[in-house]
Amino acid sequence: MSTPSLLIAGAGGAVGKHLVEQCRTNNNHSLRLLTRSKKKMEARFSAHSSTDHTIVEADVLRPQTLAGVCQGVDTVISTIGASLDIRAIKDRNSFHTVDLQGNINLLKEAQESGVRKFVYLSAFGAASMNTAYTNAHEEFVRHLKASGLEYGVVRPTGFFYVNCEFLEMARKGTAWLVGNGKASTNPIHEEDVAKACTEAALGQGNREMNIGGPETFTRQEIAELAFQTLGKTPRIFHSPFAITKVMKPLVSVFNPRIGDLVEFLGYVATHECVAPTYGQKRLGDYFLAAARA
Ligand SMILES: NC(=O)c1ccc[n+]([C@@H]2O[C@H](COP(=O)([O-])OP(=O)(O)OC[C@H]3O[C@@H](n4cnc5c(N)ncnc54)[C@H](OP(=O)(O)O)[C@@H]3O)[C@@H](O)[C@H]2O)c1
Repeated sequence: MSTPSLLIAGAGGAVGKHLVEQCRTNNNHSLRLLTRSKKKMEARFSAHSSTDHTIVEADVLRPQTLAGVCQGVDTVISTIGASLDIRAIKDRNSFHTVDLQGNINLLKEAQESGVRKFVYLSAFGAASMNTAYTNAHEEFVRHLKASGLEYGVVRPTGFFYVNCEFLEMARKGTAWLVGNGKASTNPIHEEDVAKACTEAALGQGNREMNIGGPETFTRQEIAELAFQTLGKTPRIFHSPFAITKVMKPLVSVFNPRIGDLVEFLGYVATHECVAPTYGQKRLGDYFLAAARA
């Protein structure tokens, strides 16, 4: 009997690449990786034996490219989402388009192919935030729960790599924070997020996991940690939360995704966002490694 197959959609992303590392060592599953660029994916995983995995090229916004990608697949893990990189100006696809509609297209393909389980990466606190970004995530979760498939939903706090923005600002000498910097959060390493997704995928039954890292910081403390890592004296300025409200409609004219991102980043920077501890890895170590790279 052949081993059940696992499809990792978003395999080239920040969490996706850790998922691939973790799942390729699990001999109980054969692995299929979904990406928009097979060439980039082959280059990224060139050190791996090609018998570890197969790569399929598809764009979830073009449903015809998804035909057959879930054929023979037992479980799908989707980390597909529009980029959270505020500087990726050319990337105009909104969170509603990618995180919601794109994942619905993939879910439909999974249902038609007889997939048993679908695991999805949302965001911690998404159900109560009422921003375009978090609404897209949680609307997809509603579709997933209504699909009849077994499901897993993982809701992490912010990933470590996103906080490296503070290192960049500290390098330039000045960091900016939205709000007074007093709101707390426990960011999590993307490798720990991948572990939770694997756990949700391989465990029995439906699973919802709210997860954060081992240390809780105020936003001010995260910015200070970035300066400390570089051996610099903190120079941190604050801008009012209201600025993000004014900026959103203006920025959205040029790029709807960045407009939505401004709204979300403003919200999380000014509200408590502390999830149950799951991750083991520490932000200070991550900053040190990033500073040396
Ligand atoms: N970053 C955070 O702090 C954070 C916190 C909580 C939740 N999340 C959520 O977690 C998820 C993963 O985050 P991440 O940081 O790992 O994201 P990421 O690095 O930007 O990766 C996103 C992945 O989505 C894929 N993708 C985007 N558009 C696609 C399309 N049209 N068709 C097929 N694939 C497409 C990309 O595939 P390619 O390889 O083809 O480019 C990429 O691999 C996202 O939904 C994000 O909103 C993030």
